[in-house]
Amino acid sequence: MTKPLLRALAGETLPTPPIWMMRQAGRYLPEYRATRAKAGDFLSLCYTPELAAEVTLQPINRYRFDGAILFADILLVPQALGADLWFVTGEGPRLSTITGPEGLKALKGKDDIHDHLAPVYETLRIVAPELPADTTFIGFAGAPWTVATYMIAGRGTPDQGPAHALRQSDPATFGALIDLITEATIEYLSMQVQAGAEVVKIFDSWAGSLKGAAFTAYALEPTKRIISELKRRHPGLPVIAFPREAGEAYVGFAKATGADCLAIDNSVAADWAAQALQTDSCIQGNLDPKHMVTGGQPLIDETRRVVQALRGGPHIFNLGHGITPDADPDNVQLMIDTVRGG
Ligand code: CP3
Repeated sequence: MTKPLLRALAGETLPTPPIWMMRQAGRYLPEYRATRAKAGDFLSLCYTPELAAEVTLQPINRYRFDGAILFADILLVPQALGADLWFVTGEGPRLSTITGPEGLKALKGKDDIHDHLAPVYETLRIVAPELPADTTFIGFAGAPWTVATYMIAGRGTPDQGPAHALRQSDPATFGALIDLITEATIEYLSMQVQAGAEVVKIFDSWAGSLKGAAFTAYALEPTKRIISELKRRHPGLPVIAFPREAGEAYVGFAKATGADCLAIDNSVAADWAAQALQTDSCIQGNLDPKHMVTGGQPLIDETRRVVQALRGGPHIFNLGHGITPDADPDNVQLMIDTVRGG
């Protein structure tokens, strides 16, 4: 096995950590904006395999990252399940809402998603043979809780209030929704692997708003179910879990779910992660994405600090969350040069 990212996922401590970046194909890149303009809108870009493949490859061509992440979105799964989905420019996603058992009943079954998602599988098949020999191809999906928060509220919310309310007022509907998303996600990710993904990442962006028993039931357990079934179907498949802002609940999460790598957000101290988490699994993270906007010596210092803190174990260098549209592409190069050059 020669690909650096796969070696880190297998538990190797490398002299230079492999690098990729959340949202590496995105609006901070002029070439992304040009392709997106050609597609017309974001969802058309996701569902046009030739163009989605093009933007997947753009950051690889520009920066030679060690990982290429499929260009798609976590909200394609709700749409494949029958939810309406659209994006309001400058605001974000909008979906039809699920407020009770009728909304749940109207959704499709876990095996009925593939016609809708076929263009995504086609994107994977186009990209896989185009990647440089040392670049690892990463597939992904949202974790059930995070996907459910959007399906219930119909949009992003600051505190995931509507999802918490349904979880408490109608646990049967809520639980059935989590189960459906869990099962659909297994089918979706399994198809991504068949189409060329070498690793999959599960994004639980809103895991931090679940506490205690609710975190275990709705963040940890569904992730564990997805990982164990994927590994049963695809022995040796590496999985990255990202229970963002889980805080203390990051401890033991990789072991409990079977994840090979734990992605940490930038609220976690890298040297704490080295002590408390890296003994269990590879760690991915966790430079604050704001440095991609501000650059300069603080970017260099912080990049070195993260590399230094996590150099004693398997590490994949990444940001603590997605790069933002106002980032400067030159700062990304500076980060990479700092990681690779010391
Ligand atoms: O990382 C990558 O480059 C791969 C593609 C990718 C996108 N979204 C493309 C995208 C991935 C892995 C995602 C994950 C995703 N999508 C998450 C989980 C990760 C996270 O950020 O916490 C979530 C919560 C979503 C849902 C979503 N998609 C929101 C809330 C938004 C609007 C906010 C925003 O950043 O604009 C999107 C849109 C989106 N997804 C864009 C991109 C490149 C911007 C769309 C555009 O071009 O206008």
